[in-house]
Amino acid sequence: MSKATPFVKWAGGKRQIMNHLLEHKPKKFKHYYEPFVGGGALLLELAPIHATINDSNKELIYVYKCLRNKRLFKKFYEVCKEHEVNHSEEYYYQVRDMDKKKTAYAKLPMYVKAARCVYLNKACFNGLYRVNGKGQFNVPSGKYEKIKCFDEENIQALHKYFHKRKPVILNKDFAEAVKTAKAGDFVYFDPPYDVVGEQSFTSYTTGGFDKKEQARLRDVFKELSDRGVFVMASNANTEYVQELYKDFNIHVINARRSINSKGDGRGKVEEVIITNY
Ligand SMILES: C[S@@+](CC[C@H](N)C(=O)[O-])C[C@H]1O[C@@H](n2cnc3c(N)ncnc32)[C@H](O)[C@@H]1O
Repeated sequence: MSKATPFVKWAGGKRQIMNHLLEHKPKKFKHYYEPFVGGGALLLELAPIHATINDSNKELIYVYKCLRNKRLFKKFYEVCKEHEVNHSEEYYYQVRDMDKKKTAYAKLPMYVKAARCVYLNKACFNGLYRVNGKGQFNVPSGKYEKIKCFDEENIQALHKYFHKRKPVILNKDFAEAVKTAKAGDFVYFDPPYDVVGEQSFTSYTTGGFDKKEQARLRDVFKELSDRGVFVMASNANTEYVQELYKDFNIHVINARRSINSKGDGRGKVEEVIITNY
């Protein structure tokens, strides 16, 4: 089976630090869990036989569900192609604003929402997925003349993998998603990263993941570790993260970030990979 790669540009995508992740993953494990799957770079790199993936982003999870099911995949594929043909600046805003009519949007089939998610991700500014307080997608157009929703060979490879392996696909909170993990399984946490500064104590950071959430994640990390699960997490190298995980192995690495909403976070930043083994 040829190796598939992520179908979305996702903030926090892990392609840049892949070598470090592969270096620090356990040698052997049973079931693979990725509770903050995003674009799923490590999942696709490992292509495990048994896996559970999860994300709190509903639309993203619809795409994974379409990749797993033959009938949904066909329909999803067709709608993506329609978006490519119809694409224009005006069309982008029409598709983007579909979720402003809440009741009508809720009634749309899953494959339509999935195709919209992929199209918006490719056509929006900087490949950013951002919703406002009402949960509506609010990123401006990337002003591209032509849009390709996916690479043909890659989308077929993705469909082949998901259809064959049928991973469990969840849309829950991360703590719920790992409840079934047992000794010998491997959980990789890639949460929204900790942010330095006062602001992150009081206001919502990306995905509403504040300091309290980081601490809750550490508690789940510890619980799994006590159960004999192999646990790995990535995060920013902040004092707070160092303090939270001081009882575990912390590996500091250099990484390059290309997606940042303000465009000022580019370049080299230190990250950490934490393991309990
Ligand atoms: C840093 S990204 C993951 C990037 C991914 N590993 C990749 O390679 O693209 C974090 C993800 O966590 C999700 N998320 C945020 N809060 C969550 C929660 N409480 N439970 C589950 N997922 C959550 C976001 O929707 C986002 O997709």
